[in-house]
Amino acid sequence: MRYIGNKENILDKIFSILEENKIRGNSFFDFFAGTTNVSRFFKSKGYKVYSSDILYLSYCLQKAYVENNEDPTFSSLLPSLPDQGGNSLFTRPLDLVVSYLNSLPPVKGFIYQNYTPGGTKNLERPRTYFIDANGGRIDAIRMRIEEWKKAGVINESEYFILLSCLIETIGFYSNIAGVYAAFQKHWDPRALKPLELKTIELVNNGLENKVYCADSMDLIKDIDVDLLYLDPPYNERQYAPNYHILETVAKYDNPSVRGVTGMRDYSGQKSRFCRANTALEDLDKVAKTAKFHYLILSYNSEGIMPQDMIIETLQKYGKVKLEQFEYARFKSNNNGLAKTKKTVFEQLYILEKK
Ligand SMILES: C[S@@+](CC[C@H](N)C(=O)[O-])C[C@H]1O[C@@H](n2cnc3c(N)ncnc32)[C@H](O)[C@@H]1O
Repeated sequence: MRYIGNKENILDKIFSILEENKIRGNSFFDFFAGTTNVSRFFKSKGYKVYSSDILYLSYCLQKAYVENNEDPTFSSLLPSLPDQGGNSLFTRPLDLVVSYLNSLPPVKGFIYQNYTPGGTKNLERPRTYFIDANGGRIDAIRMRIEEWKKAGVINESEYFILLSCLIETIGFYSNIAGVYAAFQKHWDPRALKPLELKTIELVNNGLENKVYCADSMDLIKDIDVDLLYLDPPYNERQYAPNYHILETVAKYDNPSVRGVTGMRDYSGQKSRFCRANTALEDLDKVAKTAKFHYLILSYNSEGIMPQDMIIETLQKYGKVKLEQFEYARFKSNNNGLAKTKKTVFEQLYILEKK
């Protein structure tokens, strides 16, 4: 999934650093879960996983990937669906349900009305986040999932698994440069393809994992784990406005939206980690209050909290080690034509609590 700060490609590296430092345990708290890639990885390593994020779209992913351990059977729903032509002995129930959802005709619902050129043709600048047909497909799928939940024919995990399939799929068809804070004027070829809902793969660790949709700072008094993993925002960019459409698809709450991009209100979802002084204050609170053997802070050498201040803050509570590795990143220059390769350091601050 395209998501700022997604750790998917460096999980093995992070894990090998922890192994080299003999940092192991049985429980893991992913304090800024985002896509849940980190949670899933540690779940697959046998850890009991806790996770939290301030965004509801992340909560949906956490419910499906982290808390849930079972492949859904859709035992109440499937008998009522038309035959999807799959051999049910060899086809996963999730594949059958997704195939049915892919057969639905588009509906002119909230996403069509607010984020497609057809639905916004009366605006001075019509919004081109999705082609009309795909906006309508997102609405049709989202509405049907909600109807099934209301009718009681899918259980809670099945509901969140289907929502996660949709959240994961939308990025492949969005006419954006990476985030939803702006749409592109010209159509990206990816956005012109007919949207096809994709299935997701689940991990079973046989343990009772627990997830939260919260400002994680509100949870610190109750945290008691071996490994507490923090992967906060590195800069001033808030996540909520950058993923506002995925948040709306997840909640499907008909919000009032405004501005050129059709932004929902996110005043209750601002992160204190997007400002250096409040980030350091909160880092101090977590390190002081939460119970853990190791706190692992993933950060970036260009992050807004200065390295010496992070070390000074963490050192009050135990022994600190800084590990870092280089990785190459592409950064557009101002006119967006040439791309310059830029090297940054991914940093892991490891605090062993006294
Ligand atoms: C760098 S991203 C995490 C990426 C994640 N590790 C991954 O691999 O996808 C930071 C996340 O922190 C969340 N966030 C920021 N401040 C938060 C807070 N105070 N409480 C909970 N979540 C917060 C954002 O919504 C975002 O999903």
